[in-house]
Amino acid sequence: MSEDASLHADVAEILLTEDEIQAKVRALGAQIGADYAGRPLTLVSVLKGSLPFMADLMRAIELPVRIDLMEVSSYGGSATESSGLVRILKDLSASIADEDVLIVEDIIDTGLTLNYLVRYLRGKAPASLRICTLLDKPARRLVEIPVDYTGFTIPDQFVVGYGLDYGELYRNLRYVGVLKPEVYSEVAGG
Ligand code: IMP
Repeated sequence: MSEDASLHADVAEILLTEDEIQAKVRALGAQIGADYAGRPLTLVSVLKGSLPFMADLMRAIELPVRIDLMEVSSYGGSATESSGLVRILKDLSASIADEDVLIVEDIIDTGLTLNYLVRYLRGKAPASLRICTLLDKPARRLVEIPVDYTGFTIPDQFVVGYGLDYGELYRNLRYVGVLKPEVYSEVAGG
């Protein structure tokens, strides 16, 4: 496949290759499929960053699954810092009462977003509620989050790709990488 150099030019380092991500997603899907065998499962994903992970993970789970999507935004904060105050932009479209629910997240950083979401979803009385995240940055955690399935634990670096953005760009990279320092400062300053 031909690649437009301008999409990749801002990337300083690839942390996780496309092959590594795909292998991990298949392994997570197999594990989830085994754990929930015989139980109908509802996957709840949070837009927009979890979109590629959700799309790949749901196809790696060999079970009948329902999916639902939420979109949240944090009040305030900056392009690289979460503020912890969460606003729901798009709510669930169906009841999850008495369902086995698995939250599908792109990354857990401070944990503030997910902490809010877990409380919110618990209030909807699911039969069970678990968390699957592709990436975990435990070094930055401010609240304790019980994570049931983790793809990769990564160091305290701001990463882009495979759904993750910086200034709404780079979500379509098939790998996860770190941008060149001057790119971060350009957007932050502008
Ligand atoms: P938290 O509330 O600090 O755990 O942040 C959760 C959200 O912040 C994630 O769902 C991402 O949208 C965003 N985020 C956190 N770290 C990164 C990163 O390294 N790259 C891109 N987005 C990030």
